[in-house]
Amino acid sequence: MKRIKIKELLATTQVGTQACVKGWVRTKRISKNIIFIALNDGSTLHNLQIVVEPSQLPEVTLQSIVPGSSLCVEGTVTASQGQQQRIELHGKQLTVLGDAANYPLQPKKHSLAFLRTIAHLRFRTNTFGAVFRIRHAISYAIHQFFHEQGFVYLHTPIITGIDAEGAGAMFHVTTLAPDHLPKQEDGSVDFLQDFFAQRTHLTVSGQLEAEAAALGLAEVYTFGPTFRAENSNTTRHLAEFCMVEPEMAFYDLKDNIALAETLLKYLIRFVMEQCPDDLAFLHQKTLAAQPSRNTETTLPLLERLERIIAQPFQCITYTEAIDILKASKANKKGKFVYPIQGWGDDLQAEHERYLVERFFKQPVVITDYPNAIKAFYMRQNEDEKTVAAMDILFPGIGEIVGGSQREERLDKLLTRMQQMKINTETLQWYLDTRRFGTVPHSGFGLGLERLVQFITGMENIRDVIPFPRTPGNASF
Ligand code: 4AD
Ligand code: MG
Repeated sequence: MKRIKIKELLATTQVGTQACVKGWVRTKRISKNIIFIALNDGSTLHNLQIVVEPSQLPEVTLQSIVPGSSLCVEGTVTASQGQQQRIELHGKQLTVLGDAANYPLQPKKHSLAFLRTIAHLRFRTNTFGAVFRIRHAISYAIHQFFHEQGFVYLHTPIITGIDAEGAGAMFHVTTLAPDHLPKQEDGSVDFLQDFFAQRTHLTVSGQLEAEAAALGLAEVYTFGPTFRAENSNTTRHLAEFCMVEPEMAFYDLKDNIALAETLLKYLIRFVMEQCPDDLAFLHQKTLAAQPSRNTETTLPLLERLERIIAQPFQCITYTEAIDILKASKANKKGKFVYPIQGWGDDLQAEHERYLVERFFKQPVVITDYPNAIKAFYMRQNEDEKTVAAMDILFPGIGEIVGGSQREERLDKLLTRMQQMKINTETLQWYLDTRRFGTVPHSGFGLGLERLVQFITGMENIRDVIPFPRTPGNASF
């Protein structure tokens, strides 16, 4: 008999129908000589209740039905006597596909930290099932959104010789043996003998290649793995993460911000519509974790999401942000680890969170940062002190989007690259895009995991990616 997914069976199958399901045992309970099995196949948060009589099964089969073992069950869909579910499956034939003696995921509460150590098994829990179904829905909706808007999906290279952000720490890519590095006469490594005959890294951003494509295809986006070798051991940083990077010809900074805001709201709405059960489950978790406090980050999950889509994002300049922070009680009372001295200071996570969670109590877009703290490709403003940058900050997350209008004027771009000591040799192709038919254009990067974190309410970014890569950890 053909297998039916539990999600489909629970939603549509009529009482009296014969059905075949396959999945993993969550719990087993024996009552009045009847076995009740909660079976989950990953298609939905909900388990299917399987009812079997022990007398129908050989002793070895009975022994093997334990939490974690995998089963194939054929039987009759029956109206359930229990309150928990509409229907259940009365098994006529039951086969154990794989047993699970000493299964480490016994049905009891496990800490997220423990589950990280068995990341290969955590897909079988309610929490991670919900998180990864939602992560899928977001990824799918990203493609749907850009497709609807006429964007072209672009695969930008993962191996690259350029440092798009100008300052990022990068992972080397080489086939040279670490203990037999070929040397030049001056003692430096001879990368001409390496696989690509040059120094190469894992990309920190596909932006520069996306810009080239946008100046021809007009509206493009890349969406793929990105790598940062920074030693950031926080709940917001990964060494390998996914970034969505749209790049649009003929867009100025305002158009850029409007697109990012529309995208973020579209994605949140999509998940609310498509994943109501998984969201409701995660919502309940946030209620259980934080019953009484009621600040922006401790609001129940669904309220947090509804607030984002209900109102326009607050837009302020960097200069206004500094004024607010400088005058804040937190700053005056020395509550910031990095006190705000004045204009020119970089904004730390604590400052971003103050603005979003305490001052405005909604997402904040900060624009026009000092050029000294932003990347070389951002467009110089007329004051020659600031650039047409924008960061979008979310409650509980901090920076979720970073972007800018790009410097399309060749002379200004060259001057800035020289000031910032960016190697213009390797970026001649990039400069060509400003030599031949340059146009105003803009783009941004949205960190997928930070968005999944926000939408699922998971506190640690390591719990929204299947196998996290962080300093000191590349297990699995
Ligand atoms: O602000 P970032 O570094 O911007 C860029 O890379 C630009 N080239 C994007 C562009 O304009 N096309 O990174 C963009 C976003 C951040 O706002 C954050 O959401 C995410 O990527 N991000 C990280 N997410 C997880 N772990 C890290 N280490 C991250 N670094 C950045
Ligand atoms: Mg940034």
